[in-house]
Amino acid sequence: MPSVSHRLDRFISRRLSVTNKAVRELLVRKKIIVDGEVASLMNQTVGPFTFVVVDGEVIQQRQPVYLMMNKPKGVVSATKDDKHTIVLDLIDHPLKEELHIAGRLDFNTTGLLLLTNDGAWSKQLSLPENNIMKKYRVTLKDHLFSSDVLIYQKKFSEGVFLSSENITTRPATLLALSSNIVELSICEGRYHQVKRMFGFFQNEVLELHRLSVGSLEMEGGLALGRYRVLTPKEIDKSP
Ligand code: URA
Repeated sequence: MPSVSHRLDRFISRRLSVTNKAVRELLVRKKIIVDGEVASLMNQTVGPFTFVVVDGEVIQQRQPVYLMMNKPKGVVSATKDDKHTIVLDLIDHPLKEELHIAGRLDFNTTGLLLLTNDGAWSKQLSLPENNIMKKYRVTLKDHLFSSDVLIYQKKFSEGVFLSSENITTRPATLLALSSNIVELSICEGRYHQVKRMFGFFQNEVLELHRLSVGSLEMEGGLALGRYRVLTPKEIDKSP
């Protein structure tokens, strides 16, 4: 997951095993091209997807990849599992081996799953201070009366204490779609968080489907188990 940026001189000297002095000479001779422009600064930043050519040789050429999948049930959100099908098994992409998951879903949770090779992007999605809302459609075992909905809404806006982490969940919103189907929006992604929040009321989650992550929405056209590349507009709107 290369997401770190480097200084141009250090990047080239490490890649080519040459001294800093040699890099400086290449720079002076205008032999270093960064993203199509002749480089002029030794300390300019090289990110994981910066295109770097030195003396006609391509030193780095990596394409960022951003995918959304409609995760089906019974598939593990991992890049390795000895027993079960993993989400990468459903992907046929030349850079598949570089991908990691940006925000896992449980084995039987369905819906929007993001995969990328851009570590900086997935980090932004997960940072608590970025307040990225994740919206879930939740099917509950126990049906709710309107009075229950108000009680759930109050509790979720105040937060549910999770004893194993010793934290209280951040304010979440609940919208009842029917007596046992609700939409829950949370801005964290703690282990089994949605199930544990409803667990506070001893109400079992029967079905869980992620509808959105920030501005990225799971549209109806993407069948379970299918994936697609994010559009440039979607990437622009995401963090
Ligand atoms: N919360 C859960 O309990 N499970 C998920 O898969 C996602 C959020």
